[in-house]
Amino acid sequence: MTHRSHIRRITDLNKIAEFYAPGKIIFGPGGISQVGAEAKRLGSKALIVLGRGAMRKSGALDRLTHLLIENNLKYAIYENIPSDPTVKIVDAGTDFARKENCNLVISLGGGSVLDTGKAISVIVTNEGSVADYQEIEGKGRKFQHRPIPFIAIPTTSGTGSEATRNAVITNTELGLKKSIRDPWLLPEVALVDPELTLSLPPYMTAISGGDALTQCIESYLGKKNQEITDVLALHAIGLIGKSLVKAVKDGKNLEARKDMAMAALLSGLCLSNSGLGAAHALSHPLGVYYKIPHGLSCAVLLPYVMEYNLPVITKRLAKIAQSLGEDVSLLSESEAAQRAVEKIKEILSQVGIKDNLSEWGIKEEDFPQLIKGAKGGTLNNNPREVSDKDLIELLYKITGL
Ligand SMILES: [Fe+2]
Repeated sequence: MTHRSHIRRITDLNKIAEFYAPGKIIFGPGGISQVGAEAKRLGSKALIVLGRGAMRKSGALDRLTHLLIENNLKYAIYENIPSDPTVKIVDAGTDFARKENCNLVISLGGGSVLDTGKAISVIVTNEGSVADYQEIEGKGRKFQHRPIPFIAIPTTSGTGSEATRNAVITNTELGLKKSIRDPWLLPEVALVDPELTLSLPPYMTAISGGDALTQCIESYLGKKNQEITDVLALHAIGLIGKSLVKAVKDGKNLEARKDMAMAALLSGLCLSNSGLGAAHALSHPLGVYYKIPHGLSCAVLLPYVMEYNLPVITKRLAKIAQSLGEDVSLLSESEAAQRAVEKIKEILSQVGIKDNLSEWGIKEEDFPQLIKGAKGGTLNNNPREVSDKDLIELLYKITGL
């Protein structure tokens, strides 16, 4: 045994891991049929949080309200949630939920809708604005009171917010995108029905899948990795390798949609318990300053961050290559790790995600702001230390400057 691996063993033996999950996970095609019974168990009047009309059009909202009425529940609707919800949107939704006397929140939508509903459910029972509780430079108030129950029904397969204990909210005033975080923020019920994702357009399927993939890989490689999330991450990476391209090319392929919905759910469990890394850290300021969709910036950054991490985390990257179905039996560990990076690049290119963000007009003079916005816990979880200079290099790579 080398000196190095000896140290690693001792570290692992001293590690105490904690694992949080939603109160209940309901997974499977047609699973939405259970929402009435679940809502009845948890409350009497629901605030339904929705995005910009896709769920009205698809008929999913009708289905939801019908199931609530059937179970004698009342509801009020808070809709038109944009991507990257702001403090203002959460605070206004909270006022509305209080005025309507809602004692339950149901979000039906993508990650932004889920995060908005989750944030409202906890601000409703606590005083002040959501901004008071954001993790900004080590500050942020602690929640004093439990939230009202929250049911998360994702309609994209990406953020994994249905299984996390944080919500990402944009603070426009401070130019930051930061989380509120507490175990209380775990949904009471995560209801994952892959049929709800059948109408998701190819581009959205690609970038939300890119987000789930980045979440699994970053948490698997991160400093806070643990045995439970390791297993989940590797399985989810395999599902994404098998089914992301299929789901993008043929949205009606239920098996591929089911794999992606499961992978996204698992990615949420992974990130919530083991953290993320440099791709997510940089993706947040890119969202604030350039409105680059979260999944897109994560996916573009992912292979560069993997390459950056390769020297310190070779063995784990080699495992990822195996999970992606690559035959690495004749390769050295570092060749296998490199193969994982190549395979990720191939998958991303097959779903139409480019290897840079040059068309988003990122300017060199904004680099200092972007670097400032990238700092914090997420960046610190990256397996290899990331200096400002390293961040600048990553930015040059993705901007094509
Ligand atoms: Fe993400």
